[in-house]
Amino acid sequence: MQIVSFKNYEQLSGYMADFIADSIKNKPDLVLCMASGSTPALTCDLLVQKLKERQVDYSKFTFLGLDEWVGLPPFNTGSCHYFFHKKIFEPLQLSSSQFFLFNALADDLKRECSKMDKVIADKGGIDIMVVGIGMNGHIGFNEPGTSFAALSHVAELDEITKSVGQKYFDEPVELGKGITIGFGQLMNTKKVFLMANGSKKAEVIKKTIEGPVTESFPASIMQNHPHSFIVIDEEAASVLSKN
Ligand code: GLP
Repeated sequence: MQIVSFKNYEQLSGYMADFIADSIKNKPDLVLCMASGSTPALTCDLLVQKLKERQVDYSKFTFLGLDEWVGLPPFNTGSCHYFFHKKIFEPLQLSSSQFFLFNALADDLKRECSKMDKVIADKGGIDIMVVGIGMNGHIGFNEPGTSFAALSHVAELDEITKSVGQKYFDEPVELGKGITIGFGQLMNTKKVFLMANGSKKAEVIKKTIEGPVTESFPASIMQNHPHSFIVIDEEAASVLSKN
């Protein structure tokens, strides 16, 4: 696990966007899996900008959405669908065959999970995964207690996830379950980047890097991955022992 620190959010977002744009340039059929949320928001904007400026051929890469709130329609502005359509798919005019997101309204959510697992397997695995971290240490909707071997699954959301998650919505929403790509797939991903910024993430970043590796603190799985990177700003790094 490598720690990559930056002065601020703008710099870490620029680094991440550069890395993804260069990776697509070098491997046009790259498979990228990303989380939505406040943390990767600027990375998405900069990625679109850099791909266009550098005239990278992005017509062959595949985009996978890491997770989604179960029960939310895709037009809900707090959904991961809405986020990725507005930030990536529409600005890049991606073909619908290039992106795969969970349908959180499906009657058969297990089938949605199997579909995602099959896409990942058929593509030969994920090249790059860019994730955030929740205030309980979750990644995607891999909540505390999730097996490190899990594939895509539906999760009962933790109370912290439900309350913190309200920030994405214009009015209070009842959140109960999430659907997510699992840690079995994260461990098989070639390179995994966990991004975090701001002092509110400092404690969870400390536990991720310095705490025990345990399923009760999901992000600690990063310590087990052979090619994992913790991409943080000064504030998120502020309580690390070797800071
Ligand atoms: C959400 C999502 C995660 C996201 C995390 C942190 O609940 N399920 O995929 O990475 O929480 O979000 P943010 O970047 O907004 O802090």
